[in-house]
Amino acid sequence: MKIKKAVFPVAGLGTRFLPATKASPKEMLPVVDKPLIQYAVEEAAAAGIELMVFVTGRNKTAISNHFDKAYELETELEHRGKIDKLELVRNIPPAGVNCVYIRQAEALGLGHAVLCAKPIIGNEPFAVLLADDLIENNGRGCMEEMVEIYESHGRSVLAVEEIPLDASESYGVVAASEVVDNVTRVEGIVEKPKPEEAPSNLGVVGRYILTPRIFDLLETVGRGAGGEIQLTDAIAQLLEHELVYAHRFSGKRYDCGAKLGYLEATVDHALQHPELAEDFRAYLKSLNL
Ligand code: G1P
Repeated sequence: MKIKKAVFPVAGLGTRFLPATKASPKEMLPVVDKPLIQYAVEEAAAAGIELMVFVTGRNKTAISNHFDKAYELETELEHRGKIDKLELVRNIPPAGVNCVYIRQAEALGLGHAVLCAKPIIGNEPFAVLLADDLIENNGRGCMEEMVEIYESHGRSVLAVEEIPLDASESYGVVAASEVVDNVTRVEGIVEKPKPEEAPSNLGVVGRYILTPRIFDLLETVGRGAGGEIQLTDAIAQLLEHELVYAHRFSGKRYDCGAKLGYLEATVDHALQHPELAEDFRAYLKSLNL
């Protein structure tokens, strides 16, 4: 089966970015001039995904507005002859893409957010993208690579990268067999283990392809780390029924859920931005750091 649907859990409170996220969603924080959620949607669309399912919460209407038509703005831009800006605004939802919004009434964790999408996903494999993780890849996107692995193996795929061991408490960490051609079989997975309990140095980043059996498991898994319903715990149970693969993706991942990662993404993107790169590089040089 083709991967046609992606889930974007966007109901989180974004407390690490307060006060910026008091009234607006953290997924709308811009990296230079594009919000985080748009990078993630574009990555999914580039992988052939056509239905974007946003699991939202309170204060998240900016996200649905962002992917909707903006008649007043478009009319005004047209009126002023700003055709390039008009095209920019019109092309925010990638061509051929539809968006669906579901409310997650209670913030019970990532696993619960994914379970909220069950009525829309149904009985088919699907992708999950966490917009906090911005993955830059000048060739094919991370999700496109993962879809290709799914198409050849027909099993769930998790994106992983090597993490410093002392950071294990921020990740789902996998036990895996030898990595061959950037793909490995997952043998175990633990959510946010202490460094001495981490099964390896391969941490899961926010890209998943999951088979629909995950929903049955999420329904019964119960609360795990941090008192939340964890996607990782349901994946650990999935391993008892099915093979799961991990993919060491190419490209660079920025942890935009943390201030430092967000700043790194901003600097790197500014240094590649056609309108800004030259002046910004000159500015950085002038700082004589
Ligand atoms: C979530 C997952 C974790 C994963 C991480 C990737 O954690 O629970 O397994 O490694 O995303 O960003 P969070 O960052 O929401 O605490």
